[in-house]
Amino acid sequence: MSECPSPKSTFVAESKLSISRRNLFSSIAIAAGALGLSGIASSAQASSKKYKVCATKDLKVGGGSIFFISSINKMILITQPKKDVFRAFNPTCTHLGTQVNSIQGKNISCPSHGAMFDTTTGAVQRGPATMPLQKYTLTKEANNLFVTIAK
Ligand code: FES
Repeated sequence: MSECPSPKSTFVAESKLSISRRNLFSSIAIAAGALGLSGIASSAQASSKKYKVCATKDLKVGGGSIFFISSINKMILITQPKKDVFRAFNPTCTHLGTQVNSIQGKNISCPSHGAMFDTTTGAVQRGPATMPLQKYTLTKEANNLFVTIAK
C-alpha cells in the first residue's frame, strides 16, 4: 500500500482574533496515486476505481485539505466537519469553476465571487453558485480515506 499523498493545500486556523473562525489553505505539497481497486458488482461500479487520498490524522476537525491524485489528474477536497466525520468533494466551484480555497465556520468558500458550500453536504449556502459541490463516495479503512471516482 502506498503512502498517503501530502495535501496540495490545507485549511488551517487564520487567527483567534477573527469574529468568525476562518480557515485558509496554507501549504502546498505533492500528492500521490491510486490503488486501483475496481468495483465489479455492476457495470457502473466496474467503471469506478477507489483511490487512497490520505490518513484521517492529516485532517483537522473543522478544516479540510485538497489532495491531488496524480494518476487521474484530479483534485479532491476532504473535509472533517466533526470529529471522525469525513466528506469528499470536487473543489471546483460550480459557479464559474474557480477552486475553492478556504473554510469559514461550516462553509467552504470560493474566492472569486464569494459562493459558500456546506462542509458536510456541499450544498450551496450562499450564491452566486446555484449547484452544490460535486460529492465523491468516501470510505474509511483502518485510518485511511479512499474516494471512489468514475473513470
Ligand atoms: S467562481 Fe466561485 S463564486 Fe464565482
